[in-house]
This record gives sequence, structure tokens and C-alpha cells, in this order.
Amino acid sequence: TRNGVDFAVADLAQAEFGRKEIRLAEHEMPGLMALRREYAEVYPLRGARISGSLHMTVQTAVLIETLVALGAEVRWASCNIFSTQDHAAAAVVVGPHGSPEEPKGVPVFAWKGESLTEYWWCTERALTWPDGAGPNMILDDGGDATLLVHKGTQYEKAGVVPSPEEDDPEEWKVILELLRASLAADPGKWTKIGEGIRGVTEETTTGVLRLYQLAAAGELLFPAINVNDSVTKSKFDNRYGIRHSLIDGINRGTDVLIGGKVAVVCGYGDVGKGAAESLRGQGARVIVTEIDPICALQAMMDGYQVAKLESVLDTADIVITTTGNKDVVTVDHMARMKHQAILGNIGHFDNELDMAGLARYPGIHRINIKPQVDEWVFPDGHSIIVLSEGRLLNLGNATGHPSFVMSNSFSNQVIAQVELFTKYQGYDREVYRLPKILDEKVARIHVEALGGEITKLTKDQAEYIGVDPEGPFKSEHYRY
Ligand code: NAI
Repeated sequence: TRNGVDFAVADLAQAEFGRKEIRLAEHEMPGLMALRREYAEVYPLRGARISGSLHMTVQTAVLIETLVALGAEVRWASCNIFSTQDHAAAAVVVGPHGSPEEPKGVPVFAWKGESLTEYWWCTERALTWPDGAGPNMILDDGGDATLLVHKGTQYEKAGVVPSPEEDDPEEWKVILELLRASLAADPGKWTKIGEGIRGVTEETTTGVLRLYQLAAAGELLFPAINVNDSVTKSKFDNRYGIRHSLIDGINRGTDVLIGGKVAVVCGYGDVGKGAAESLRGQGARVIVTEIDPICALQAMMDGYQVAKLESVLDTADIVITTTGNKDVVTVDHMARMKHQAILGNIGHFDNELDMAGLARYPGIHRINIKPQVDEWVFPDGHSIIVLSEGRLLNLGNATGHPSFVMSNSFSNQVIAQVELFTKYQGYDREVYRLPKILDEKVARIHVEALGGEITKLTKDQAEYIGVDPEGPFKSEHYRY
């Protein structure tokens, strides 16, 4: 704690650099800046205590400071051990008007290269308010903050935290350890936090999946807004964001020429579409794997070969997973890959690749090339290059998505926070989406910022196609 701000970041001295990049990013985030102007005198988030768990990048800094501008108190952690940009974290702690000696910003608990224990400690710190009041909103990306509150509440009710099984993932053991310690120290902590929360707004596909599962089981403790499935989120961030940041991660990690190589993209959803286009744009020959015939057919119509991973492993120079599923690339696949082939994941969690299996492979040898780049040498002498230890490589090896696309995503986040914070009584413990008219509003701001002109419907035309001339312009089932 310094000057009343508690925090855990790498180095406050990086705040000045962070502030310069935040200033440039603000210009590239017209949606967030428009929301600041729209709500300048209104402070709709006054009284909101938001615990955020989302990659602590420059773009997220602009999001955090927008929430503060709307009146919120905020505490923040990253949602990945490698994704924090240390200068952005420092700048948020220092704040626009503070200094490293006298920080006046937001408590942030995040640095690049956390251990799993440190990661979950940071998440807990973001959820633990110093005066014991607790958060009343969560802003989540992948659902880890929400998971901690739900599991904590569940085990407090049972009065006991289960012992980990031997073959449980390492991360789950860390979570159980943390919850066991908190049950001993403060047995009502998570129940109280859960009861104080008005709602959560969730950023990504994987976190949204967890929310729908909780709601279906009747276990969701508070209402949720699915931000991911705003059209101006998943059809832009997941796709065009990845188109930008996938090759950025591969380039910064390896500097291998992508042109002429064979690249396999596992999954052809929104992220997969962006990933395939990104690699094709560099001149790679792209092959797609899919389990869903609709997405497989889309890939073929877009000109990609569709194959099973097993059929094409022998030729692949680059393999990227984008599925949000687990065990997509097994250790047997890895052992069959070409010498110095590149393997990376850009889905939310690292379980798409069997990293634990790779580490256990008899005779395997790991050579760290540089942070977030490892060469794994098999006993026969051939090796593969794994990026970011199997965690999302665009944020681990590069700086994630650029500001303009995140302005779309984060505008939806801010709108969703205002909606749930101010109108929570009208929501059940279910998962909701934002109304289409707000999606169109976010899009309009960004079209105008890019100098696009939107055609206006005449009254006659609007009647003919059966919509209001001011929108919404499409039915709910329209797929874009
Ligand atoms: P999506 O549901 O649109 O796409 C996933 C696709 O993978 C689906 O088409 C599905 O049929 C396919 N799939 C599932 N299992 C498969 C398997 N075993 N083999 C081949 N294909 C399989 O989801 P979306 O939005 O594309 O997100 C994918 C992941 O990326 C999620 O974990 C999401 O949270 C994450 N994400 C990561 C971002 C980043 O910056 N790294 C940005 C946005 C999302």
C-alpha cells in the first residue's frame, strides 16, 4: 500500500511509459471515449465496486479508467499469468494525476509471468476490498473470478474443502489450497462476497460457457450478461482481433517466415476464422480441423483444406488451436510433429494442448529459448517449439488485440456493467445478452470513427422491410 492504494505490480517506474501508450490508445478507442462523454455528468456507476479479472493490457487500462470516470471504484487482476503489460499495470496504479511516489489510481494485482499460486492470490486480492465491504460487481474474462466466488460459497456451505486427487490439474490443486486457507481464516468470506454481488459481465466464449453451465444447474449466484455474444464483440474481437494478434505472437516468439509454410488451425469458429485468415495473409497454406460440419463447410468455401489433425501432422510447420475445447493436441500428436514445428494455442485455457503430458514424456528435454518460448526435444533428437507454455499466445508472446477492436468489446462491457449495476433487480440468476439496439450503437460509433457513412432508411423502405428506421435493423435470429 502506498498513498492509500494497495497494489502488486512489477515496477511503478514504468508508469510514465504506460501513460504515454494509454494516451495513444484512448484515441483508438472511440467507443469508450464516447461513453465517457455521454455519462460525463451522470456517474451511473457511482457506488459500484467492480472487481475485474481481465488481461491487464494498455487497452484494459482505458477500460478501467472509463469505469472510474463513470463513478466506479475498481480493483483489478489479470486473467492470465503471461498477459499483463507491466507498464500498463503501473500506469493504472499511479493514475493520470499521481506519481510513482504518490499513486492515485486503481489497485491492480498483476504482473507478467506470475506463478499459478501468485495468479490466484492476485484474483483473490482483486475480490477482497480493504474495508470488508466486498465487490458488488464482477467484470470477468474466462470466469476465474466468478469461479472463485462460486466454489468458495459451495465449500463454505459444506464446511469443508475437498482434498485434491493426485491426477487433478496443478491449477485446481492451487485453487483448493487457497480456498482451504480462506475457509480456515474467514469461513463466511465467499458467501458474503457472493451475496453482495449484483451481477457479472463476461468477456469471452469460454467464460460464457461456464456461466450457462452454472445457470443450467441452478447454481448461478447472481445475474450475468454475456458480453461475448454481442455481435460487435465476438464477430470483431474474436475474429479481426485474432487476425492481427496471432501472427504478431508467432513473429515475436519465433521470427520464422510464415509464407510457404503449412499451418493447421484447429477450430473454425470466430477465433479460427481470424487465425486462418491471419496465416493465409502471410502466405501460409492453411488446413483447418473441425468437429462441426457447418464450420467445416465454411472453411472449405473459404478455400481451406479440411482434414483431421492426424492426417496432416506430418506436413504441418505450424499448429494453432482455437477451439476452447480440451485435449485437442495430445502428446502423441506432438511427438509426431516435424522438427522445429511451432505449436501454440490461442483459445482461453492451456488445456487445449496436453502440456502436462508433454512434460511427463519419457526422455523429453526442455530448452527455454526466451520467456514464453520453449523448445521441447524428444529422445529421438527432433524438437518442437511451444509458445507461451500452451497459454493464449497472442497475449503471452505479443500484446493481444489492438485498441480499436477492443474499443468495441469494452464498450459492450461498460454498457453491460451500467445495465446490471443500475437495473439488477429486474434480472434473475440467468445469463442475458445486451439488446441489439445497443450493439448497433457500438458499431455506429466505430463506423463513424473510421469515416464510414451509414445509409439512412426512408420511412417507406423501413416499412417495406418491417423495421424501425432507427433500428434495430435485424431480427434476433439473424447471424451476420
Ligand atoms: P467458437 O465456439 O466460435 O469456435 C470454436 C470452434 O472450435 C467451434 O467451431 C467448434 O466446433 C470447434 N471445435 C471444438 N472442438 C474441436 C476439436 N476437438 N477439434 C476441432 N475443432 C473443434 O469459439 P470462439 O469464439 O472462436 O473462441 C474459441 C476460444 O478462443 C475460446 O476459448 C475463447 O474464449 C477464446 N478467445 C481467445 C481470444 C484471444 O485473444 N486469445 C479472443 C477471443 C476468444
